[in-house]
Amino acid sequence: MSDEIFQPLAFRNLTVKNRVFRSNVSGRFDNYDGSGNQARINWETQFARGGVGAIVSSFVPVTIRGRIVPNYATIDRDERIPFWRAVGRSVHEHDCRFIMQLSHAGRQRDIPGIEFAQAWSSTERDEPLHGFPCVAMTQAQITETVTAFAAGARRAREAGLDGVELHAANGYLFTQFLSSGINDRTDDYGGPLRQRARFLLEVVAAIRAEVGADFHLQVKISAEDHNDALDDDEKPGNTLDESVQVCRWLDEAGVDAIHVSSGSYFPHPRNPPGDFPVDELVKTYDQLLSSGSHALRNYLLFRFEPTQRLFEQRWERARGDRIEGINLPAARAIRAAVGVPVLCTGGFQSAEVIREAIRQQFCDAVTIARPLIANPDLVQQFAAGRGRPAVPCTYCNRCLVNAVENPLGCYDESRFASREAMVAQIMSVFSPAPFV
Ligand SMILES: Cc1cc2nc3c(=O)[nH]c(=O)nc-3n(C[C@H](O)[C@H](O)[C@H](O)COP(=O)(O)O)c2cc1C
Ligand code: SF4
Repeated sequence: MSDEIFQPLAFRNLTVKNRVFRSNVSGRFDNYDGSGNQARINWETQFARGGVGAIVSSFVPVTIRGRIVPNYATIDRDERIPFWRAVGRSVHEHDCRFIMQLSHAGRQRDIPGIEFAQAWSSTERDEPLHGFPCVAMTQAQITETVTAFAAGARRAREAGLDGVELHAANGYLFTQFLSSGINDRTDDYGGPLRQRARFLLEVVAAIRAEVGADFHLQVKISAEDHNDALDDDEKPGNTLDESVQVCRWLDEAGVDAIHVSSGSYFPHPRNPPGDFPVDELVKTYDQLLSSGSHALRNYLLFRFEPTQRLFEQRWERARGDRIEGINLPAARAIRAAVGVPVLCTGGFQSAEVIREAIRQQFCDAVTIARPLIANPDLVQQFAAGRGRPAVPCTYCNRCLVNAVENPLGCYDESRFASREAMVAQIMSVFSPAPFV
């Protein structure tokens, strides 16, 4: 029988050659102002070369106000189009598709914007990790942001990319509207689920009006918020049933696929599922720690061994035992409720787990982030008959906590012959050089 992993997947407007997509991974490879450079092209192209059917890009801000940190390439103006055209062209050379993740951080930032001290959000409540201040968006600000998303989609299309994804998962601006744990508005954008989904549905309608019905548009959603995973005082947020309903509305509104994740903030014990390496975090956290009203709390929490251990234990408890396919039960419920294909993210790196997920109709394809950072040629390894990589990703999350300050790459030294070999692998993204 033919291998499920290598069956093409046909969406309404797009066909992908196999069922393994590179999931979104953000690294600070680009220039401060949001323009891109060669390092980003090198980074994306290695996965296309490694055999994935499609790449879903990192977080691409639709406005400068919407970025999590500087040094992410943006899609906030027409001048950005030639750079993204170059990224798409390089990826296409390997028969791989490129879907841009249109994004806005809202209040969930890792470094407060120098240009915008106060973030826009659904709420006036500070961002919970660092304590960054935010304001609840006015109708005019909502309308401005809807227009920015539509313009981002138009630019992605003009750049020759294969589609766009709305980042409505993991605590960023759309989640801040969708989640009953975060959205405390009393106007037409808060309260019942339909009103919390209104901002997202308005963006879908605006994109369709701007780019037409024949451009691939998918939405990444957190199926379950688990907003109280680390803090009992928080409300739990959206349930799976509520998210299934949101996905039905998205399907009716004309989206082409749903990408299933979890968690109403990022990172979250269930996303990316794995350990929380506090020993590594303290090396990279200074930049985050020094700003925000929770600096003292976080200093005490992350600097001392007893509180570090307590935090790690709480993290593991909230995650549960399952890592590979952690979101599959949620993906199955959503897949049964919508007519469009469903992608599932979370821990995949064994060929048999992926085959079973597709065979049993939990999802139509999987998206992978960290196991591809560890082994960019994972799909080629599957094609060669290997069921699991020889040196697998350990889900240690050291890549994640380094990404704020250091080049994105695998930081688990135990996977390499030496520290030098690890550093050489990480630095290979700068060849060819970003500036010549
Ligand atoms: C370093 C890093 C950066 C990430 N950046 C993004 C992002 O920009 N947008 C997004 O939707 N998810 C992002 N994620 C989440 C991944 O796309 C993915 O959904 C998650 O890591 C679970 O998949 P995995 O177990 O295959 O890593 C990131 C994850 C990591 C580890
Ligand atoms: S640092 Fe390497 S091994 Fe650890 S989670 Fe990231 S990719 Fe996997």
